[in-house]
Parts: sequence; structure tokens; C-alpha cells
Amino acid sequence: MSENRGTKSERKVWEDIAERDPYLGTSGPTRAIPRAGLLAKSDDSLFKVINPGAFVLDVGCGYGRNCIPLARLHGCHIVACDISSAMSSNVKEEGIPIILSDLRKLPFRSGAFDYLICSVVLIHLPRRDTATAITELRRVGRQVLIIMPNPLGPASYFGLLPVFAALLVWVKGQRGFSILRDVPTLRGYLVNYYLPWRFTKLLKHQFSAVTLRSASGGNPSPYLSDRVLYVCTGTSQTVVRDRGMKIHESPCPHSPT
Ligand SMILES: C[S@@+](CC[C@H](N)C(=O)[O-])C[C@H]1O[C@@H](n2cnc3c(N)ncnc32)[C@H](O)[C@@H]1O
Repeated sequence: MSENRGTKSERKVWEDIAERDPYLGTSGPTRAIPRAGLLAKSDDSLFKVINPGAFVLDVGCGYGRNCIPLARLHGCHIVACDISSAMSSNVKEEGIPIILSDLRKLPFRSGAFDYLICSVVLIHLPRRDTATAITELRRVGRQVLIIMPNPLGPASYFGLLPVFAALLVWVKGQRGFSILRDVPTLRGYLVNYYLPWRFTKLLKHQFSAVTLRSASGGNPSPYLSDRVLYVCTGTSQTVVRDRGMKIHESPCPHSPT
């Protein structure tokens, strides 16, 4: 097993879900039964942001809710990537090239793709890994399109769901009632919500420009939508400055592909 396929337990969680759960762990507005051909709707806003025919990497592609329509209807040249082969088997069957890799260590050269999509994946990472993961996405994609479920949106019952989940963690004996800690679920993965303005702040440490949209494209306000699309471009001055001073710069372990 290659080193960049993620921690074994994380990978196993997703493999198990794909093998045992007909819904592949989906719920809310992305509920789907991919094996029966019932796919959830793709995020329309991606079609507005991504130029037709562009080179796109879909990181944490799952069953291909976004990358399959982008390839079929928008003429995009897609490479897909996921930590789990079972989760992404639909994408493989579609003939889209797929790489099995952990997003924290992508096997691509810097700036390899016009756009990098990372939809509903960072929410499942431990909070301590989020900034490092974003650095890796920024390295590989010239424009980085991150979609995150909005804890304030209707599908999260306008904030009640994350608070309830955190309460449950507390009742089960894990000390420290906070929705700002890692929140495990019965399925085995984490669900760590980020308020849109906090996540924007996190992104602005790394990108010079971050704009927010409703991912579905329907609701005019991203703050009231179920999923927020963060369109991230450029490198922030902090990162440029730190690089210049050689602060926390790590050797690049990635070989060009
Ligand atoms: C909730 S699904 C989202 C699927 C798809 N992007 C979408 O929006 O419908 C999360 C996906 O991310 C993958 N994943 C989880 N952790 C990952 C990691 N560290 N690196 C790459 N993929 C990961 C899972 O295997 C799963 O397919």
C-alpha cells in the first residue's frame, strides 16, 4: 500500500461505508443510491465557475456526483481522486482516470490543474489537518473550489444539527462541550462543521482572494444555503512572506506525474 493512501483507519471507514451502505454515507440534500443509478444533483455553481474543457482534479470525488456531469456535459478533462476505491467505483466505470490517494499528500506536480474541486471532504478531516490539507490543494490547483456544508443552512436545521451532534458527543462522555472539536459519528467518520466566516478566514491565510457562492447556484446568499462554494485564487501575502523567509517550508515529497 503506498504511503499517500491515508491512514488505514480512515480509508477503512470509507471502504466499509461503500461496501455496506447503499447510500454510500450520503444524507440530506446529497442523499443518493448510486448503485441503483440514483445520483444526487451536482452543484450547479461549479458549471458557472469552471470553463468548459478545463483540466480539473476532483479530490474526494466519491461516486462522481460532480465530476461525471462535468466530464459529460461540460467537456472537462477530469482526473478524479479518492481515498477509497469502493467509494469511487462509479467514476472508474465511467472511464474517468482515478488516483487512489489521500488529499493531504497528492501525487501531482504543483499547478497541475486549472481547477481543483474538493466537495464535502474537508468536513471529514480532523481539525488539526485542515490547514495542511488546504496548503496541498493550493499547491496542485490554480483555482481551488472547496464546497463545505453550511451549519447554518436548512439541511442542518439552521444550526441545530451541529449543536445536537456536539451535545451527543458530550453525553457519551467525551469531555469538553464544543462544536469546535472533532465530532465523530456512528458511521466512523468525523463531521466537523465550519461557520462560513471562520472558514473564509482560514482560507485567507493561504489565498489572496476568496469568494463565496451558494454551491447549488439557486439561493442568492451563500450564508443561507446548504452548501457553500469557496472560490479560492492566488497566494496570500502571509504565505509569500513566510516562503521568502523560509519559515515552515517543507521539502516537496511529490514527484511530477
Ligand atoms: C461525503 S463524500 C463526498 C463525495 C463528493 N465529493 C460529493 O460532493 O458528492 C466524501 C468523500 O471523500 C473521500 N475522502 C475522505 N477522506 C479523504 C482523504 N483524506 N483523501 C481523499 N479522499 C477522502 C471519501 O472516500 C468519500 O468518497
